[in-house]
Amino acid sequence: MNKKRILTGDRPTGKLHIGHYFGSLQTRVKMQENEEYDPYILIADVQALTDNFNNPEKVRKNVRELAMDYLSVGIDPTKTTIYIQSMVPETAELTVFYSNLVTIARLERNPTVKTEIAQKRELFGESVTYGFLGYPVSQAADITAFEGALVPVGEDQLPLIEQCREIVRKFNSIYGEVLIEPEAVLSNAKRIKGLDGNEKMGKSLGNAIYLADSEEEVNKKVMSAVTDPNRIKKDDLGNPDVCMVAYYHKLFSSEEACTNACEECRAGKRGCVACKRELANNINEFLKPIREKRKYYEENPEVVDKILKEGTEKARITAKETMKKVKKAMMLDYFE
Ligand code: TRP
Repeated sequence: MNKKRILTGDRPTGKLHIGHYFGSLQTRVKMQENEEYDPYILIADVQALTDNFNNPEKVRKNVRELAMDYLSVGIDPTKTTIYIQSMVPETAELTVFYSNLVTIARLERNPTVKTEIAQKRELFGESVTYGFLGYPVSQAADITAFEGALVPVGEDQLPLIEQCREIVRKFNSIYGEVLIEPEAVLSNAKRIKGLDGNEKMGKSLGNAIYLADSEEEVNKKVMSAVTDPNRIKKDDLGNPDVCMVAYYHKLFSSEEACTNACEECRAGKRGCVACKRELANNINEFLKPIREKRKYYEENPEVVDKILKEGTEKARITAKETMKKVKKAMMLDYFE
């Protein structure tokens, strides 16, 4: 029964797109089938507030959106515990204790946080908030509350895991060997480019296909995808290597269909519009079961709430066990 706990999560700040699907969701769906693992997914609403403190409606709304995205791609609540971060207050308590174990200079050096602060000048102005600067501490609490957690992450999250490991070592050296250092599992999933060819797919870039997009939205977006700029007329010889439609065909179409599309494009025998239509159909085919599941959850919000409630209760039990050990080690177990 010694299953390895896995912890992943997202900030509830927007709908998930197909970049998230290939980047992390697909792996999470696969991992939950492995008997050796006990996966948890946190909806990081507290962390989302660190840079959306002035927009609580946005965070609130996206908690359920995110849960529906998870459920519709096949995260199975009987195998994966989905929980809401703010409803496990033990992690907030842990954050306070850990904040003594990390210096401001160390937080300021965290490359992920540094990049983010630079991107958020408009929100933070000259001086960043204590909460945002300190979110790696809160993330360390999220992770360590679930002892022995493996954390599958993208490269941008590695500095956060490293910082968590440092906090754990510091804690253990002062209070005794209580916490377990988590391990980052670098996912080898690729980052999906945007429809415009941008290296990153994102809401702010306007180049994403969302899991919740309708057929019409997908059709419209695919029609606007960037193709070989040198190909003006249909019988110009095309270069699929610089075409986003060809790039997406590789993700959503059969190998045969891809080879066909590329050959016909190079020979000037197929037009971009026909090629886009075929791709849009295949993306819609891929999204069909996801949309159907989502529709069910949209029509039955009480089911989503029940899943979140039960997941959160389960997560809390685990976090409470850790908290008990932590308080004992810190001599805060007054009436025990
Ligand atoms: N930082 C993560 C993100 O931006 C979300 C997150 C919060 C997280 N706590 C976590 C991820 C713990 C992994 C483990 O998406």
